[in-house]
Amino acid sequence: RTAPAVIVAIDGPSGTGKSSTSKAVAAQLGLSYLDTGAQYRAITWWMVSNGIDVADPSAIAAAAEKPEIISGTDPSAPTITVDGTDVAGPIRTQEVTSKVSAVSAVPEVRARITELQRSLAASAAYGIVVEGRDIGTTVLPDADLKIFLTASPEARAARRSGELKGADVNATREALIKRDAADSSRKTSPLAKADDAVEVDTSDLTLQQVIECVVTLVEEKRAAK
Ligand code: DC
Repeated sequence: RTAPAVIVAIDGPSGTGKSSTSKAVAAQLGLSYLDTGAQYRAITWWMVSNGIDVADPSAIAAAAEKPEIISGTDPSAPTITVDGTDVAGPIRTQEVTSKVSAVSAVPEVRARITELQRSLAASAAYGIVVEGRDIGTTVLPDADLKIFLTASPEARAARRSGELKGADVNATREALIKRDAADSSRKTSPLAKADDAVEVDTSDLTLQQVIECVVTLVEEKRAAK
């Protein structure tokens, strides 16, 4: 018999290795992969490109349904397009990064993106790894496995500035702490650990160790299904 579809939610703040872990786990286990942060970045990119003031929640809410956002869920080649344009590069700029918390705090934006996420998860034949901030708590509360990744602020800033070549570690740490505080304190669906999530502190683990830990947990769940 074929393995039943398994739904895995991986949440946590930035710089905990969420994306690298989620992609590798999905690839190893033959599951689909969804980067929900990329979806919030994509809608933010569209707002900025269309001259919408991100400090004006009502303007953001009014435009929330306009862009067509399509995520490709192959973990070896994830893609993201807005109205047919590949935005994988532009969504990683400093400008989008600094504005994404404001846009993603707007309830109409969350409703729109959450619907996309649920429909992608429902259509993944073999299952999916979905990474974000509110997947275990709000988007997929019935996920088979929920993981909450954490790491010390120092470890997170060091990893992020390694990714953004040449970036200053202190400035990166400050920006990251500010964004996590905004994401954790917003009213609608904040960054939070679900009660039934397994917490993994990655500060002193290598990426390979985190991947192995999560793969083992998924395999246990799959065997029990
Ligand atoms: O994972 P990331 O850094 O690419 O996420 C970008 C932003 O998107 C993050 O600061 C908050 C928002 N986000 C969210 O609100 N809910 C999610 N499920 C994923 C991301």
